[in-house]
Amino acid sequence: MSTEGKAACVLVAAGRGERLGEGGPKAFVRVGGRPLIWHALRAIAGADLVSHLVAVVPAGYERQADELVDDAVAGRLSGTSRVVSGGENRQRSVALGLSAVPADADIVLVHDAARCLAPSGLLDAVVRAVAHGQDAVVPGLPVVDTLKRIDERSRVIDTPPRSDLRAVQTPQGFRRAVLTRAHSDAEARGDTDAPDDASLVERTGLPVHLVAGHQEAFKITTGHDLAVAETVLARARASAAPAP
Ligand code: C5P
Repeated sequence: MSTEGKAACVLVAAGRGERLGEGGPKAFVRVGGRPLIWHALRAIAGADLVSHLVAVVPAGYERQADELVDDAVAGRLSGTSRVVSGGENRQRSVALGLSAVPADADIVLVHDAARCLAPSGLLDAVVRAVAHGQDAVVPGLPVVDTLKRIDERSRVIDTPPRSDLRAVQTPQGFRRAVLTRAHSDAEARGDTDAPDDASLVERTGLPVHLVAGHQEAFKITTGHDLAVAETVLARARASAAPAP
């Protein structure tokens, strides 16, 4: 692989998560007996190609996050782990995490704690694609629903062909300098609400490359998603248990 430096993962977990309706930040809601962020940390710790971690958490949750990092990550990463507090929106939280990435990392993954079941292998696949020369990489899956564009009165305007569309996930991976520039350009333009980091890179004119996503990298947003996550974890536990 053509990378001279290392890869760092910025895990953004500083959302307030009101939509989940569980009270408290989404990343600290439990699934399979542990907070969402713990599962995400465990996947990062299990990724062979990730050296450093920066976890971005809501202000006031830094101590709790430190303990979870100790439990899930300690001794499993070759590099450093840091916890920093997040910002008022996702883009700002990523920027704060990015500024805490160690100097020897030349590849940066940005991962949502809300996609806490994304497997370690997906993180490694994204790092590998960047290390092989892509500036920006997103994992994505074909869409199963037909999507319609609508106007403000809910009138359908058009139906983009499904074969042209992908549902994009995280971790998204970047050459560090590319992501840093994309964020500073966005700040200079006054853009604060990018839907994801790849869209900021798209604005710089650089190509963004798509790799195969993973079903388990789905985003936990609703109570239904939480129930699906419980099922995924229970199934994984059952298949890991020794046969009776
Ligand atoms: O709200 P949503 O699920 O789209 O957030 C995606 C990810 O961004 C979540 O993991 C959330 O914790 C994170 N986020 C953040 N800081 C914010 C808002 C969201 O780190 N201010």
